[in-house]
Order: sequence, then structure tokens, then C-alpha cells
Amino acid sequence: MDFPGAHILSIEQFQREDIERMFRTADRMEPYAQRTRLTRVLEGAILGNMFFEASTRTRISFGSAFNLLGGEVRESVGMDSSSLIKGESLEDTARVLSGFSDVICMRHPESGSVARFASASRVPVLNGGDGSNEHPSQALLDLYTIEKELQARGRKIDGLRVAMIGDLKYGRTVHSLCKLLSLYKGIQVVLVSPTELLMPEEIIALLREAGHRVTITEKLEESLAQVDIVYSTRIQEERFTDRAVADSYRGRFRLNQAIYTKHCDPNTVIMHPLPRDSRAEANELDRDLDENPNLAIFRQTDNGLLVRMALFALILDVAHLVEKHEQAIHWHNPRLLTPTDEQ
Ligand code: CP
Repeated sequence: MDFPGAHILSIEQFQREDIERMFRTADRMEPYAQRTRLTRVLEGAILGNMFFEASTRTRISFGSAFNLLGGEVRESVGMDSSSLIKGESLEDTARVLSGFSDVICMRHPESGSVARFASASRVPVLNGGDGSNEHPSQALLDLYTIEKELQARGRKIDGLRVAMIGDLKYGRTVHSLCKLLSLYKGIQVVLVSPTELLMPEEIIALLREAGHRVTITEKLEESLAQVDIVYSTRIQEERFTDRAVADSYRGRFRLNQAIYTKHCDPNTVIMHPLPRDSRAEANELDRDLDENPNLAIFRQTDNGLLVRMALFALILDVAHLVEKHEQAIHWHNPRLLTPTDEQ
């Protein structure tokens, strides 16, 4: 794929060599994300960060990634505070905002909305999540994390065994992650969900067409035994028309340290796109896992910064200039974590 000027709307745009190029660019972002080096390569550029649906990490991660490359961020947060609420079309909004920005990130509750927006934009648009459809940057940071976790265990992505757990029907992160895994070889995917919240058929078909082994089950504990990665997800209650139906699934697939110790290999990595639902009735990843060194959920969010910096650097065609635009750092934050401080 040609990164410069590209919209990032779906994982379907990527080939395996694109992923490799982006991940190696993300590796180079580490010292800037750690604030041991400073670059101003995007000085003067503006990111329009348009989040028409709730977000904590995707919005702040995209914004911070742009700032760390020297750019500035303008934001619109929530449908109620935008003129979409007055009946303005996505296309008009895109035309206007792309006059103010060099690149736009957008999240919106409707599937396909970000692609519609992009069709009227004069600048690249990155999909920060469109309804239950896709969340490409999350899948990219998830796979980048998987690669790093496996590397530490002397393994590669090819041959990965992964269990995806929870709301696989509405969970856009697992849709994008499965599309991404279809680019690799010999993957075993165990899909653990209530029958009503099964992964969409076309995504299961994509995995099988890639030659991957797909197992579908409602039984959490027996699915944990032979996987390298347990990828848990939240019930996407905001996608249900009847909240009581969402509530009926809550807490169905809880993972805690006792279950992990009994059923998982001691090296099994635990992932979640976050937010995890920590309410007592859900408690999908128990806080007693927080001391487990294989809990990678905060390594995922840290890696998200690197992956989003890499996306901006490649799309705005400055990846080769990042080191050339370094400046001296005049401040020091002793509380910033170093890589060795990670959980
Ligand atoms: N993973 C993720 O999309 O988190 P936010 O909803 O907080 O952005």
C-alpha cells in the first residue's frame, strides 16, 4: 500500500509487508514516546481529532502521538457538541474540517460512517472506530503487542494460537484483528462467545480461507488450555437496543488468577483492548490479575502510542525525517517509566 496521503479505514487495505514496514517504523518511535529524545518533524501540522462517540485511550493516544511528533491537535468531542446534531451531513463536516487540518482521526457510532466522511475529505482520515465495524489502529497495536510478547518467548506470529472471548458480534477490535491475522500463516483461533454474540460469518470465512483453524465454543475454561494469547473483550452494551439483553451476558466469561492458574499455560499472555468492565457484575478481567506479569493490557496501550506515531509518520511521509528533526530536551520528568519499569 502507498502510505503517503492514504486514508486508514479498514485492515482490508493492508498487505503483510505494509504491517512489517509500519511495525519497524513503530520500533523507531520508542525513544520519542519515552521522552528520552524529542522530534519536531510535524511542527506546523494540525490533527483534527473528531470523536463523536465515547473514548479515553484512542482519542488521547492519537492526540499524544501527533504531539510527540511536534504537531498540534484540535478536537471535537461528543455528538451533542458538534453541528451534526443540527442536521449537518458527514460530508459537509468533512469538507469543512479538512480545510482546517492536515489529517483527521474520527470515531462515530455508525458502521461505514468514517468511510463516508473520508470520501468528502481533502486530507487523510484515520478510522478511530466506526460502530461495530472496524477499529484498525487498535488491531495494529494489538498485533504489534502480540509480536513483541511472542518475540520475548522466542516465537513468531505465524503459528499463533489465540482465544478471543466475549462479545465477538459487536466488538470491532476483534473484527479488525481477525482480518489482520488472515494475512499470517497457520493461526489457530478459538472464538468463545454466547451463540447470539458469535463472530460475523464473513470474518470466520476469511480466517478459514486463509487456512487457519477456527474453533467455536461457549466454554471459556477448556478454551484456555492450549493458547498463547487470551484476548478478552467487553460486552458492547452501547450497541444493544435492549440494555437488559446486554446485561444478561455480563459476567459470563470472567477471568481471574485462580482460573488462569488452573487452566492456562504459565506463559499465556492476557490481552484486552480496554476499557475492561470492572463492575462487580461483569469483572471480566479481575484486578487480581494485575500482578500477573503476563497481563499485557497496559503494554498494549503503551504500544498504541508507537503504532499511531508510525501511522502519522508514514501517512504524512516524514518517517525518514523523524531523527533529522530532533531537538534538545530541556526538561526531565523523573516519574516517566523506563522500559524496564514495565509491569
Ligand atoms: N480501546 C479503545 O478503543 O478504547 P477507548 O474506547 O477508550 O478509545
